[in-house]
Amino acid sequence: MPRIANLYFKTAIVFLILGISIGLHMSISGDHGATGAHAHANLLGWVTMAIFGGYHALNPRKAERRLAMIQYAVYTFGVAVLIPSLYLMLTGNAAMEPIVALSSLIAFAGVLLFAVIIFSSGERVVSASVAPSR
Ligand code: HEM
Repeated sequence: MPRIANLYFKTAIVFLILGISIGLHMSISGDHGATGAHAHANLLGWVTMAIFGGYHALNPRKAERRLAMIQYAVYTFGVAVLIPSLYLMLTGNAAMEPIVALSSLIAFAGVLLFAVIIFSSGERVVSASVAPSR
């Protein structure tokens, strides 16, 4: 597996652990105020990062490019700042709002960079092969 794919899966599982921890805390406390942080940790963190990692695993040539690492750094930084600041904002710290706004835009920039990766040309190395019939 390309290094960037492995890195994405390792980061994704950290966000799943965090997302589920927030979900369990909400369930146990009965206070569902942090639902937004829980849902975004699971969806922007676990689900989206696993899809990014899976794409790189299927496209190892694209995964070797410098842009892949730049995209990982931008997206991961955005999400890593967004989740705790959103959690704090939703649990009563209104001062976090500008940080939530800025980190959302950084995460979105990471998504746009991934769109560039997807639309850029690159040979798809892993493909289903059909054995020649005799
Ligand atoms: C043990 C694991 C989990 C627990 C204990 C948990 C718990 C919760 C709780 C308590 C809520 C608030 C519900 C409400 O107030 O209406 C919630 C909402 C939500 N959860 Fe989870 N969750 C878990 C896993 C996940 C996973 C893996 C995902 C996504 C991959 C996810 C996505 C969501 C979403 C999108 C919402 C918002 C739903 C809405 O507002 O309609 N959850 N969860």
